Amino acid sequence: MTEFKITVILAYCVIVICICHAQLPKKDVYATVPQLLSKNGYPVEKHRVKTDDGYILQVHRIPAGRRFARRSGTPGGKGKKAVLVVHGLLGSSGDFVVMGPQSSLSYILADGGYDVWLANLRGNMYTTHENLTRNDEVFWNYSFHEHGKYDIPAIIETVLNVTGLSKILYIGYSMGTTSFFTMMSQRPEYNDKLIAFVALAPAVYLDNIKPMASFLLKSIDIVNTLRQQGMMSAEFRRDIKDFVAGSVCSAKHAQYDVCMRMIFSIVGEDYEQHVWDMTSVIVTRMQPASWKQLEHFGKIAITGTFTQWEDGLWGAVKPYNLSNVRIPVSIRYGENDQLTEKSQILRLAKELNDTGTLYSIKPGCSWPKFNHLDFIFARDVGKLVNKPLITHLDELYNKFHKE
Ligand SMILES: *[C@@H]1O[C@H](CO)[C@@H](O)[C@H](O)[C@H]1NC(C)=O
Ligand SMILES: *[C@@H]1O[C@H](CO)[C@@H](O)[C@H](O)[C@H]1NC(C)=O
Ligand SMILES: *[C@@H]1O[C@H](CO)[C@@H](O)[C@H](O)[C@H]1NC(C)=O
Ligand SMILES: *[C@@H]1O[C@H](CO)[C@@H](O)[C@H](O)[C@H]1NC(C)=O
Ligand SMILES: *[C@@H]1O[C@H](CO)[C@@H](O)[C@H](O)[C@H]1NC(C)=O
Repeated sequence: MTEFKITVILAYCVIVICICHAQLPKKDVYATVPQLLSKNGYPVEKHRVKTDDGYILQVHRIPAGRRFARRSGTPGGKGKKAVLVVHGLLGSSGDFVVMGPQSSLSYILADGGYDVWLANLRGNMYTTHENLTRNDEVFWNYSFHEHGKYDIPAIIETVLNVTGLSKILYIGYSMGTTSFFTMMSQRPEYNDKLIAFVALAPAVYLDNIKPMASFLLKSIDIVNTLRQQGMMSAEFRRDIKDFVAGSVCSAKHAQYDVCMRMIFSIVGEDYEQHVWDMTSVIVTRMQPASWKQLEHFGKIAITGTFTQWEDGLWGAVKPYNLSNVRIPVSIRYGENDQLTEKSQILRLAKELNDTGTLYSIKPGCSWPKFNHLDFIFARDVGKLVNKPLITHLDELYNKFHKE
């Protein structure tokens, strides 16, 4: 009898789970990056990178393009041109894969002849720690300061070690550019290991979000409130994300999609380039962030300075030294990006120009409504941004790569 009851309950659960998942698009919402790459016929490797402070990062490598992989079976990455691609806040290596081979940057880079390395920074699903678990408060004691000081250098060392190359290219998106600049400020010796840097929607100056940051961090003190509730990081439970993705975020039309309207209010509105099936993918694949990371961005917005964290949100302002950057930097921005706004990116560009490292600055593409997330999720991101970017990367490589 009890056994029967258990069976019934189990069956009920399976049905409920099936129904819930049926509401999600057929896209591979929870597939890992290696699974997605293999499914699309690309060779993929996983590399384990350990940082000096004990974090273990899983980095993904696509050593060759699809055609090459099919022809020879075992691609050899040696002697090729390698590029490291670094994700943004709430992101992972998956951001450069989810839109598929015609659109996402990884595939286009691999097919363009690059040995592609996709970083994962501490905090997301591809990271662990040798002594700490995600339930330890200390695990979450980091910001993009540590991404730049520990994670990226450790990843670069691994790439150089595995490929035998002496220098590589670096593409960063949003916070993946912040960590580039914090790295260069703290460890300028990495100028010698990079050929050039491409900054997509760089997050260095954020004066435009000062009102929002002041409201959230000062007026309602949201982070400390949530901390006191026992939330150790900015992270949604999987079942909650599934529920949200399957209900409010699953609308197929712009005017009913509450989710996207909220997201657009932060990143800039671009209904035309949004693929409606992707809303639930964006929400379900969203990665955790540390509170400190968010507060650190808040401090930069509130002080109007690209400052270190030092003694906290209201503590002393101590700018990162941007003049430590000595390699060529190319910047791409979105005309309608409300998060990393054009005016703020121009301020960064001017500073880099003054120290002689700015190579070029342009809109990511000609579409006037291009927003922050469009660099990853736009319907035409392959055609609009990523394919032209490969041509630009080739140019940087040919011009600045010297053995
Ligand atoms: C982790 O624990 C081991 C053993 O106690 C210790 O040797 C190591 O230094 C610790 N790692 C970190 C990053 O604290
Ligand atoms: C967090 O990290 C900072 C800088 O590494 C350190 O000064 C501080 O003591 C740490 N806090 C905790 C609670 O471990
Ligand atoms: C680089 O590779 C060599 C062996 O080929 C190994 O001994 C060394 O520890 C590696 N260094 C890093 C930083 O992974
Ligand atoms: C920043 O770095 C540059 C170049 O490395 C150096 O000349 C300058 O003194 C530094 N500025 C500060 C405030 O440390
Ligand atoms: C960079 O500086 C040069 C002169 O030093 C100036 O002509 C050019 O407009 C500047 N470019 C940007 C983007 O500020």
